[in-house]
Amino acid sequence: MQAADLLDPRVLFVTGKGGVGKSTAAAAVALAGARSGRRTCLVEVEGRQTMSRLFETQPWDFDEREFRPDLFGMSIDPEASLTEYLEMFYGARRLSKLVVGSTAVEFATTAAPGIKDVLLIGKVKELERRRDPDGRFHYDLVVVDAPPTGRIVNFLRAPDATTELVNVGPIRNQAQSLVDMVLDPERTHLQLVTLLEEMPVEETVQSVGALRELGVTVGPLLVNRVLQPKGDDSVQKLLAAGLDGGELTTMLNGAGLPVSDDTVADLLARGERHAHRIALQERMREQLVRRSEVPMLELPFLSTRAFGEAEVGRLAEEIAEVVT
Ligand SMILES: Nc1ncnc2c1ncn2[C@@H]1O[C@H](COP(=O)(O)OP(=O)(O)OP(=O)(O)O)[C@@H](O)[C@H]1O
Ligand SMILES: [Mg+2]
Repeated sequence: MQAADLLDPRVLFVTGKGGVGKSTAAAAVALAGARSGRRTCLVEVEGRQTMSRLFETQPWDFDEREFRPDLFGMSIDPEASLTEYLEMFYGARRLSKLVVGSTAVEFATTAAPGIKDVLLIGKVKELERRRDPDGRFHYDLVVVDAPPTGRIVNFLRAPDATTELVNVGPIRNQAQSLVDMVLDPERTHLQLVTLLEEMPVEETVQSVGALRELGVTVGPLLVNRVLQPKGDDSVQKLLAAGLDGGELTTMLNGAGLPVSDDTVADLLARGERHAHRIALQERMREQLVRRSEVPMLELPFLSTRAFGEAEVGRLAEEIAEVVT
């Protein structure tokens, strides 16, 4: 596997530690997919309307809508998935309208805690398998803004747990078909998003292990918010040499720059902090490569007040440069 293979599978579950930028990365991957000509569906599963806010669209719901060229968005909720499932298997349109409601889902969820996840993954599979009248797949790529790493193993294991509970019948077959999708390296990759910081790196390394044990394929890591070294090499060398503030003030004043000791001290402190963070990043990058053995694709830290579609677009460009 190489970073260039990022968009190869048909389904990408994007996960990571809370707050590392899963939703942002999922949006950027989906946008890169759509721009590459893949008909793409971006899926939200936690009903938080993160995507509609990010792209400034109408709120998302169970009906997919093409909100950008080749880019569709939808939000899966378990209740709607259950209704659709019953309609598909039993043709019970009228019955399901009566039976299915939040009570039914609540009941099912209490009876078998994983059922909500099975319903969510079931809808993802429906999107992935859907065909147009000419026989071609309707979507080339389905990108899911999935639950965080703390929940991802149980989330993905839910269909398999169901097959253990139910031995025969349509539910078992349906659950087995989800297991097949999740475990097929051609169809599904797990996309971990991380930061070059201690805790996220640790959690990522653990998750890569747990996911591999589960048998799912871990795609290239998306390393988010990577700082770019400021200044050229000579500046870095000056900082590394531990410049004396007093000397620097004298030098600058001598060169006709009327700067005070305080300003110079402040600038030096900032420079040193920056150099320190770059050095830490370097150590974390080395650890991540060595311990995860997964190729990486880095996304830059974008310093902006409001993070919106333009920024997602810039991250999508970074992805497009690497992906084939
Ligand atoms: N490359 C980046 N540069 C700068 N800021 C970023 C970048 N990526 C994400 N952010 C910011 O980091 C914050 C968290 O991002 P996001 O909501 O995507 O994380 P998340 O992992 O989905 O969070 P949650 O666990 O709450 O779902 C947001 O404010 C987002 O704008
Ligand atoms: Mg999120």
